[in-house]
Amino acid sequence: MNVIVDQDICIGCGTCEEICPAVFHLDEMIGKAQVIDADACEFVGCCEAAEENCPVEAITLENE
Ligand code: F3S
Repeated sequence: MNVIVDQDICIGCGTCEEICPAVFHLDEMIGKAQVIDADACEFVGCCEAAEENCPVEAITLENE
C-alpha cells in the first residue's frame, strides 16, 4: 500500500493520526500530517477509515 498525504491540501486537523496513529503523524511544527509507516496499513486496517474521514480528502491510498 502506498499512502500519500497531499501537503498542499492537508489542513492539519489531526483526524488521521487519531484514527490511525501507526501510519499518520501530525507534524505540529508545519501543521501537516506525515506518513510514518505506510506498510503498517497492511495489518492495522485503519488507513481506509483515515482516508474516508479526512475532511479535505488529502489522503490517497494506492494499492501496489
Ligand atoms: Fe491532514 Fe486530513 Fe490528516 S487534513 S491531518 S491529512 S485528516
